[in-house]
Amino acid sequence: MNLKEFEALAKSRRAIRYFKSDPIPDDLLRRVLDAAHWSPSGYNLQPTHFFLAKDTEVKKDLHKACLGQRQIIEAPVIVALTGDRRVYPSHLEKIVDSDMKSGAMDERYAGILRRNVKLAFDQGPMGLGWLGKACLAPFFRLLRPMPSIPAVDKSFWLTKQVMLSAMTLMLAAEAAGLSSSPMEGFDEGRVKRVLHIPSSHVVSIVIALGYAKERSVKSRLPLQDLLHEVHH
Ligand SMILES: Cc1cc2nc3c(=O)[nH]c(=O)nc-3n(C[C@H](O)[C@H](O)[C@H](O)COP(=O)(O)O)c2cc1C
Repeated sequence: MNLKEFEALAKSRRAIRYFKSDPIPDDLLRRVLDAAHWSPSGYNLQPTHFFLAKDTEVKKDLHKACLGQRQIIEAPVIVALTGDRRVYPSHLEKIVDSDMKSGAMDERYAGILRRNVKLAFDQGPMGLGWLGKACLAPFFRLLRPMPSIPAVDKSFWLTKQVMLSAMTLMLAAEAAGLSSSPMEGFDEGRVKRVLHIPSSHVVSIVIALGYAKERSVKSRLPLQDLLHEVHH
């Protein structure tokens, strides 16, 4: 794909609220989800999970949890994208293993990754590590540059990762001839109950997928109003 084709793809995607009832072929849906799964994540920890709802009864309950938004009922597939707070203990060693096998990582890098991820994510016994990191970070930051620490604000870290997968999902859907509808208008607790999402997960966004019945028109502010180039 060249830039011209990508520009056309990015600019043709619209948030769609009216869907046909046509189902999405399973292999097409699988490919769109797989493209989203290839999105980047910090330390390649891959915290994003995809919870699907196609069943009419499940969608009825989800419709209520998503504040009655019509696209939940109309679209054939609803995907809730979540980030798992427990990703550090559950994924790190699997990822080290898989990257070592693929040749993407050697022992030295694996050691550095283990150390850095522990430093960034470990909340210590009874959350005392969290307290230490939350209290000490502002002081260290006075002396040297410090990034925000996932252990201190895990939801913020997870939301960043999950939303990259969300964007890839919507662009892949568009490339597959599908349309999407991103939604933050939902009650997180109720969405978790309806989709049996584990309590350690944060639900960042719900996306309806399907074939558009009606396309909408949108504008954007001039890029120059939002573009900032800094000079000495
Ligand atoms: C994070 C996020 C949350 C959104 N939540 C909702 C929502 O709950 N309901 C809805 O109808 N549209 C929702 N939208 C769609 C936006 O209104 C839409 O993307 C915006 O108006 C720009 O239109 P476009 O996507 O067609 O270019 C959301 C979009 C984003 C990115």
